[in-house]
Amino acid sequence: MSNLFEEVHREYTLFRNRDALSPHYIPSHLPYREDEIRLLSQKIAPILSGKKPENIFIYGKTGTGKTAVTKKVLNDLNEYAERKGLPVKGLYINGRMYDSEHKVIMRLVKMLVPSAELMGYSTSSIYDMLMEDVDRRERRLVVALDEIDMVKRVGDLIYRLNRANDELERGSISIIGISNNPLFKDRLDARTKSTLCEVELVFPPYNAEQLRTILKERVEEAFHKGVVEEDAISLAAAYAARNAGDARYALQVMLRAGDIAEEEGAKKVGREHVERARRLVEEDIVYEMISTLPEQHRLLIAALASMIVKGVGVETFGKGKVITSGMLYSNYKRLAQERGITPVSDRWFREYLNELETYGIIEVHVAGKGFRGNTRLIELIPDAKKIVSLMERGVI
Ligand SMILES: Nc1ncnc2c1ncn2[C@@H]1O[C@H](COP(=O)(O)OP(=O)(O)OP(=O)(O)O)[C@@H](O)[C@H]1O
Ligand SMILES: [Mg+2]
Repeated sequence: MSNLFEEVHREYTLFRNRDALSPHYIPSHLPYREDEIRLLSQKIAPILSGKKPENIFIYGKTGTGKTAVTKKVLNDLNEYAERKGLPVKGLYINGRMYDSEHKVIMRLVKMLVPSAELMGYSTSSIYDMLMEDVDRRERRLVVALDEIDMVKRVGDLIYRLNRANDELERGSISIIGISNNPLFKDRLDARTKSTLCEVELVFPPYNAEQLRTILKERVEEAFHKGVVEEDAISLAAAYAARNAGDARYALQVMLRAGDIAEEEGAKKVGREHVERARRLVEEDIVYEMISTLPEQHRLLIAALASMIVKGVGVETFGKGKVITSGMLYSNYKRLAQERGITPVSDRWFREYLNELETYGIIEVHVAGKGFRGNTRLIELIPDAKKIVSLMERGVI
């Protein structure tokens, strides 16, 4: 009998290094981010002379290079400090994975003292371990908290990490907070905000021309020479430019286009592969955003999307149809009953709306004139049709 893998094992013929398009790959060269890289490293540089750098807040839309730039700067910092024998360390933590004060502090200690046993200890005792280690080794730390808006009660975390500097006789802790959420900063209380945002760095979106250059460099690494047609790169760049200048989107489209071409045994990656890839990537994005949410949140989005697709809503002057929170709540309750799920109370419903707004999936506006009392209008950010089509296929 033939081996199963005889059939499925194929050597890539188009890709040279497919990983160069993966989201985890950090390219050695980041075009159009030279200024941001220089500024960030200049702001951190005092740490090398024993001074505590200011805290920094980095903000910019998704796929503008915030994570890539920060990781690159911290990698260089660590490499330099090690070479010079300085007790300086840049630590990167992603708030999506470490989403509470406890998890973040625990992760910090784990990175500094890999042998530490932390199970069962309270946040305060782990924090004491952190302080003890920083003090004893006279460490100067830069803690980058990426996707910081995902960390619950982030104000407490920032307060504690920052207060460390008053308590420490030797050593220091500086924070780099990173977020793509335009609401995040304004929701912080005044004290946390002024602590975190001592320096602010805004990453602008890339335009089509910049995306083309970025893509071209990555394509050269990822594919064999001459495999990807020039106008395929331009098309992917144009799509990404329309999608808020998101470089991740451009890279995903290119990766998918390569896979499609590879699968059908094509010799080149052309425009038609990019077009097909785009549809797949857009579905992926909506799916990723929604599939990881808890059941009640998904239900709420499903209710909202189906209302939009059916054209349900209140007619307003100039704004087209809008959906009020009251209408959404009754539709949500109906959908919950249909699916045999107990709907949540009005209070929790409002809480979930807040959370969805924090995640950037909906926007809530105060209705104002012509509406009753504190009526709120709900706007869905992703494309409603795509959500409904995922629902119909039973995916969400
Ligand atoms: N200037 C650049 N040159 C080359 N690749 C880039 C550049 N900017 C971003 N990228 C690539 O685009 C992808 C997205 O970038 P990155 O993850 O840094 O975005 P981000 O701003 O952190 O987005 P998010 O807010 O969604 O986390 C990564 O694969 C990154 O390597
Ligand atoms: Mg990022």
